[in-house]
Amino acid sequence: MSTYASIEWKNGVVRMLDQRLLPHRTAYLELTDEHAVAAAIRDMVIRGAPAIGAAAAYGLALAAARSGAAEPETLRADLATAAAALRAARPTAVNLSWALNRVLARLADPALSTVEELRAVALAQAHAIAEEDVRTNRRLGLNALPLVPDKANIVHHCNTGALATVDYGTALGVIRAAHEHHKQVHVFVDETRPRLQGARLTAWELSRLGVPHTVIVDGASGHIMRTVGVDLCVVGCDRVAANGDTANKIGTYNLALVACAHGVPFYVAAPTSTIDLSIADGDAIPIEERAAGEVTHVGEEQVTPDGARVANPAFDVTPARYITAIITEMGIAYPPYRESLAALVEQANQGRG
Ligand code: MRU
Repeated sequence: MSTYASIEWKNGVVRMLDQRLLPHRTAYLELTDEHAVAAAIRDMVIRGAPAIGAAAAYGLALAAARSGAAEPETLRADLATAAAALRAARPTAVNLSWALNRVLARLADPALSTVEELRAVALAQAHAIAEEDVRTNRRLGLNALPLVPDKANIVHHCNTGALATVDYGTALGVIRAAHEHHKQVHVFVDETRPRLQGARLTAWELSRLGVPHTVIVDGASGHIMRTVGVDLCVVGCDRVAANGDTANKIGTYNLALVACAHGVPFYVAAPTSTIDLSIADGDAIPIEERAAGEVTHVGEEQVTPDGARVANPAFDVTPARYITAIITEMGIAYPPYRESLAALVEQANQGRG
């Protein structure tokens, strides 16, 4: 495990590293109910698709523990309400719904006939989701090893490391696995406007891991490809549609286009929990629009003229045709994605029994 945990369950409360304060301060929040967890997801105390999935599952476990329901059916109704509140916290990452649906499906088992059993199962499922996430990410990283040359310049966008997951990371896990296998990687870290997950979080994680890196502004990747040379881009994702179209942090699409123009392979690291086969293509992926203040201000300082009109989509969709391959814990999917992704998701579902 990393020495810092994005999320953990301790003595009946959920502890979260407050990622809004990094890299300057390391402080944990202790959350005791599902409303606090939903607010922490919305306000990006915790962020990254797999991490918010685990957070939502622990939010349900908290709701189960604090509900005063005496009958199983009343508790199930309370948990359905709690799940709705958690689900609404952020719309794009499918892991949130995936984790909630998984816990609720387990709790629907009619063999669970007491509130105590339901509480225990809700917590056990949350732990299972968290533990599985770490195993998944490690496998995903190992699966990607053949794609990373022994000496590689890599562009990475946003933050997809231990902070964005329960541990190890997805796209950053690919980089981490390559580094652990003694490949000489150098990471160009997109700063990732407007929340600066790259500059603040990825640079922090890479320095702790001892991985050589250089922070660049988001618009610099084309220049770096042209003048320095880049061997591959690897990014995470919040939702992959059945055809391979992929939603990820705003700016990912631009990076994919620049990579395509330079003939640089563009890889998406996607645990199968982020693949949403119920959505045919990227047009149906809900894109979160966040507050204008994230764009108008840098820290406390307003950088735009008063009254400037602002759009702040937090994610964009990269069409599948710009994605060289999608790396999962079950293996690597290549185009055509409709078939290759469905096969890997099927395998993963069979493994979960
Ligand atoms: O808004 P964020 O910081 O939650 O966005 C995170 C990303 O876009 C990540 O790339 C994605 O969630 C994958 S995290 C392993």
